[in-house]
Amino acid sequence: MQLLQSVLIICAFVAEVQSLTCLSCTAPSHTCETTQTSCRPGINSCITMSVSTNAGGMKQFMILKNCGVCEQNTSLQFGSMNVAEICKSCSSNLCNNHPFEEGPSNLNGFECYTNSPEDSNARSIVKCTGTQDHCLTASSSFGGVKMELRGCASSAACQVINQSITGMQLSYTGNCCETKLCNKAVLFPGNNDKHIF
Ligand SMILES: *[C@@H]1O[C@H](CO)[C@@H](O)[C@H](O)[C@H]1NC(C)=O
Ligand SMILES: *[C@@H]1O[C@H](CO)[C@@H](O)[C@H](O)[C@H]1NC(C)=O
Repeated sequence: MQLLQSVLIICAFVAEVQSLTCLSCTAPSHTCETTQTSCRPGINSCITMSVSTNAGGMKQFMILKNCGVCEQNTSLQFGSMNVAEICKSCSSNLCNNHPFEEGPSNLNGFECYTNSPEDSNARSIVKCTGTQDHCLTASSSFGGVKMELRGCASSAACQVINQSITGMQLSYTGNCCETKLCNKAVLFPGNNDKHIF
């Protein structure tokens, strides 16, 4: 019995020692004031996530640090709006002191049809950047109000976009394709003649 107790105490002590500590903060900016946070058991990495939005030259940033696991980096462009998310992770105490990282802005030669979030009938061609090598079409209808977005997307963004949801008031269809200018299909036939290219 004595031995079992000792073993349990040692195990508890080891588990305590192994719990990871990460820097934690979130702010609508490049930098943020960090505090320290202990991760839940089983979370063995710290992350820094940088989100940049460029809407026609107006840039906005968000940074987030915490315990966590990175999914992939994602990036989207529709109209003059570009959104990029870069995630970095590491696995030692307080290691997530990475600086803010802006998404890549280099043109990569890929192109897609796009519309602006304001006017889904205004169609033009957008040049894709960084890892955006898919074209996307996402349509949603909520309480009879239809919205459509077309543009460039990274493959990681497509894994989220590529789905259909139908509910009482809501329907959503997202689709990605992999060749230049492949996103000109009509998802709401009859909605408006100007949708048809
Ligand atoms: C995201 O991109 C950065 C380089 O900009 C890279 O260091 C990091 O590993 C990438 N993250 C993931 C989850 O792929
Ligand atoms: C998205 O779905 C289409 C059609 O179902 C498929 O061809 C494509 O490979 C999927 N793309 C991704 C990135 O999941």
